[in-house]
Amino acid sequence: MKTLLLKDNEQDILKAAEILKNGGLVGMPTETVYGLGANALNPQAVANIFKAKGRPMDNPLIVHISCFEDIEKFSLASKIPEKAKLLAKNFWPGPLTVILKKGSLVPDEVSAGLDTVAIRYPSHKTANKLIKTAELPIAAPSANLSGSPSPTTAQHVLNDLNGKIDAVIDGGVCDVGLESTVITLAQEKPKLLRPGGITLEMLESVIGEVLVDSAVLNKLEDNQKPASPGMKYKHYAPKANVIILKASDVNFINFINSNKSINVAAICYDEDVKILNVKTYSLGKKNDLEKHAHNLFEILREIDSDKTIKTVYSRCPETKGMGMAVYNRLIRAAGFEVKDLEKL
Ligand code: TXA
Ligand code: MG
Repeated sequence: MKTLLLKDNEQDILKAAEILKNGGLVGMPTETVYGLGANALNPQAVANIFKAKGRPMDNPLIVHISCFEDIEKFSLASKIPEKAKLLAKNFWPGPLTVILKKGSLVPDEVSAGLDTVAIRYPSHKTANKLIKTAELPIAAPSANLSGSPSPTTAQHVLNDLNGKIDAVIDGGVCDVGLESTVITLAQEKPKLLRPGGITLEMLESVIGEVLVDSAVLNKLEDNQKPASPGMKYKHYAPKANVIILKASDVNFINFINSNKSINVAAICYDEDVKILNVKTYSLGKKNDLEKHAHNLFEILREIDSDKTIKTVYSRCPETKGMGMAVYNRLIRAAGFEVKDLEKL
């Protein structure tokens, strides 16, 4: 199959919408990461997403909509709780996915056999226009091969899926750079399943207490069943050994400089770059947490392309605000290896 590289204009969006209506697969930009879209109401098209990505069939997909009313229009949810309306009012369109009890029209392929469905109304203009033009809800996981980092450019999508999907629309670099926040409202108490652009603090300011699933910040034990199936799968980790250092500024710098080697690199802040004497990858200024989120996946990819790097020491993000999302992705890249220098 030849994969069309489409532009972010009306004519090409129309073309992409036609492909979706005909059961094809289209890579689409969103404000978080690129998604691999298909008609959510067409089980065969949805099954093809799993095939193209090499994604395990028990990992459910997010359904993307272009207005709140789509939930009822397409019978996506059996019930819309008050808290879902509040979250939608405050954070949609945007990087937030809400899990609700599933409606009658959602195929089992989308929800991977669960009785719930994940729904997101993205704010990216192109995604919105594409969904509106296709007049369909669009099922879309991140547009990477399973196990690779989520793509934040159309080129990343092509690197992974060229020849396996019908088209990708080039909408430039994604703003947020990390996948959406996932919260479930399908149980008694709201629970955060994946941190992202809408922070825990923001959610709680609107709907009160939100529980945090233990897999967000900790490694799941082998016998633990994850609330979100995606959390049990191996996440992207560079070939080099990534170790997170929990340390004061001084101890972080001293530890790395005394372990200097051409095979060592550091994931650090702008303020560290001049003081460290190993190869550095800066997440941004120390306090610019949004920037850290935006840069993380690109940095992990760059590290993978430098074969001399064997060990990477990383700053340990705080787990507040956007820091929680960065920490959540980084500990997975590090295989949960955190070295506490303050305790030594
Ligand atoms: O920002 C994003 O969310 C991007 C863009 C394309 O929208 N999409 C994305 O999709 O990251 P994906 O498939 O890579 O991640 C979806 C996560 C998975 O961990 C999956 O297990 C979880 O959401 N999920 C989906 N439906 C669920 C459900 N019904 N119950 C629990 N977890 C669910
Ligand atoms: Mg993904």
